[in-house]
Amino acid sequence: MSQPSKDELVQAALEVRSNAYAPYSKFLVGAALVTEYGTVFTGTNVENASYGLTICAERVAACTAAAAGHRKILAVAVATSGGASPCGACRQFLAEFNGSMDIYMVDADRPQQVKEMSLADLLPEQFELED
Ligand code: THU
Repeated sequence: MSQPSKDELVQAALEVRSNAYAPYSKFLVGAALVTEYGTVFTGTNVENASYGLTICAERVAACTAAAAGHRKILAVAVATSGGASPCGACRQFLAEFNGSMDIYMVDADRPQQVKEMSLADLLPEQFELED
């Protein structure tokens, strides 16, 4: 199956960001990932009145992909105001599904500027359980 382009993934992250449920922080996050089968899954942050229950956009997208049976993520685009990078918890969570996936960070206010890094560089010395 053909893979979506980097631009398509970035566009999907920008679009889904409008569904972010962030009434407390007002910080909207959209994530779009592509798996080895070329399928795109998206997610947004979902906040909660009990703040600690908030879920990040990246983990929502990764859980959706995993629940559909996809086990390898090739790339994730994350759209925020300012082009933030995934938080530490999300880096470890994503690493479960490929420690060297590409991460595209896009500033929703300047969507032409996309910063690209490998998860291996964003999260060195990743935790893994030995078999
Ligand atoms: N957030 C994400 O969705 N992804 C991250 O990688 C960092 C933070 C969300 C959580 C919360 O809803 C808001 O951004 C502010 O922390």
